[in-house]
Amino acid sequence: MRGTKVVIDGREIGGKEGMTILEAAEKADIHVPTLCHKKDLSATGVCRICVVEMEGSPTLVGACHTPISEGMVIYTQSPKVLASRKATLEVMLAAHKGPCITDSRIEQCELQRLASELEVGPPRFALSEPRFYPAEEVSPYVRRDLSRCILCRRCIKACREIAKKDVFSIGYRGFDSKVIVDCDEFLNKEVCRDCGICIDYCPTSALTSPSHRAERNEKKEGLEVRQEERNRDGNNRYKLLGMLKSEQTRSGSVSSKVIPGIARRLNISVGEVYGVATFYSFLSTRPLGRNIIRICKSLPCYLKDAPMIIEVVEKALGIRPGKTTADGKFSFELMNCIGACDKAPAMLVDNDVHGNLTPDKILKVLKSYS
Ligand code: SF4
Ligand code: FES
Ligand code: FES
Repeated sequence: MRGTKVVIDGREIGGKEGMTILEAAEKADIHVPTLCHKKDLSATGVCRICVVEMEGSPTLVGACHTPISEGMVIYTQSPKVLASRKATLEVMLAAHKGPCITDSRIEQCELQRLASELEVGPPRFALSEPRFYPAEEVSPYVRRDLSRCILCRRCIKACREIAKKDVFSIGYRGFDSKVIVDCDEFLNKEVCRDCGICIDYCPTSALTSPSHRAERNEKKEGLEVRQEERNRDGNNRYKLLGMLKSEQTRSGSVSSKVIPGIARRLNISVGEVYGVATFYSFLSTRPLGRNIIRICKSLPCYLKDAPMIIEVVEKALGIRPGKTTADGKFSFELMNCIGACDKAPAMLVDNDVHGNLTPDKILKVLKSYS
């Protein structure tokens, strides 16, 4: 393997090809904070806490998943890096329900420790509707309080790569993203074998043990730690999206009744199939109406009057986003992008783009599909 020299915080470090910036930094005892990363799990690169500045790169890069290359010059403590880490953590804390950061009764978690390390206090802003899920106490093994989940995905990876089960997946998208079990069901005894690995890897109090943690240690013995993500179904996973699209076209939705069958055929978990089915906006797990109205809810369209379209459609059809009219003619969905920013305010009806909309024009468009 070839040697690779990099400079981190002014120190020349000799690394090996394939090593990440984080590994090179650790080799020289340079601390880079991490959150979604764990040494014995494959990299996810979702939290952006480990960002560093790299000469020549217009953006900050994630140290935990960016490989080093010859001559790289890295700064781990520049003002830009520190500001970015703080802002990321503050957003996480704001989206995270619960008084834990100010409540001394709650055992310190990694998120709180990171807040102390980065000198981040209680968030300066609050989300009007923070993510909230009632705590789930159905499983005798794991208590789930997903309002405290920061979507680091460590539980998913630990369960898949260490426990060699595939209990958790990510479902939905954007702000609605959530760690799910099967088709977003309760964690039950049948799927979970009580190894407690997910609890140990959870950096917050989102996953806790209803019983005492010491009881689990024996069960963990014998669990083989794997360094690379398992690819036991590598021949089949690539077929998933095609199968879901066919099902959507054939039946008008990908219902949770067909998901276990697809999972079995591809030898992947039900949760993974459900996660993909709820991620893509052209797929739906519930039956939709004959015509589907899609409006973009992202910032550029918001600034170009998307709220006006939403209001007019709501009034005209008498339904809220996410619903279908009683006669089954229209479903009304909000999406992150419909690819029509240049024509905004715009909406999609099925595959047709209608742009430069005014309230009158919207009513005419709706009438033409009635
Ligand atoms: S439940 Fe815990 S480990 Fe799993 S994604 Fe949420 S914070 Fe991470
Ligand atoms: S620790 Fe690197 S992206 Fe999360
Ligand atoms: S800060 Fe809320 S669980 Fe850690």
